[in-house]
Amino acid sequence: MKFFIDTANLKDIQEAYDLGVLDGVTTNPSLMAKEGIAGEENVNAHYKAICNIVDNNVSAEVIATDFEAMISEGKALADIDDKIVVKIPMIKDGVKAIKYLTSEGIRTNCTLVFSAGQALLAAKAGASYVSPFIGRLDDISFDGLQLIEQIVQIYDNYGFDTEVLAASIRHTMHLVQCAEIGSDVVTCPLNVITSLLNHPLTDKGLEQFLADHAKVNG
Ligand code: E4P
Repeated sequence: MKFFIDTANLKDIQEAYDLGVLDGVTTNPSLMAKEGIAGEENVNAHYKAICNIVDNNVSAEVIATDFEAMISEGKALADIDDKIVVKIPMIKDGVKAIKYLTSEGIRTNCTLVFSAGQALLAAKAGASYVSPFIGRLDDISFDGLQLIEQIVQIYDNYGFDTEVLAASIRHTMHLVQCAEIGSDVVTCPLNVITSLLNHPLTDKGLEQFLADHAKVNG
């Protein structure tokens, strides 16, 4: 399973990359705004800075919502770096844009997916990734993980190449359960990745080993 980090913060991206387990980055307009990145030139420079840290798979989202504008914005984003994956919302023109950009050899990530039907459409249009938002579904009392299970099953039934990118991950159990289900990718904030390190028995065991070693070695 691939690990993506869901942030536009360069320090967090570098820290996750340095851990040696990072396969990519997802951003969205809210995450870019959180970093105070505004204006086309600055936005493009920030995407380039992210690409310079990681090896591949940097999702950059279009702002446009009509077909023609999504195509030109998508092409401009893809021109920034070969590592860019153009993120397109699950709307009618978005599906058309995914189909078009895919035919042009540009990788896409279909975002804001909340149902299996939407995921099926994204795969048929040729999306490289589909992003179901599990945390936001859980927030409104729908089972986000069940959606991941459904999509994995459907893609498996028909051999779709689209990778399931579980997004809106809130905690480590989401991540581990996505791995059990067979999600291809998870994207989450840095603290979810680093929280995977934690276990009290690891801390206790290490403390004991070091104390026993010190007893005889001084
Ligand atoms: C996915 O690509 C989105 O950026 C993201 O996972 C949304 O997560 P949130 O619900 O925590 O905003």
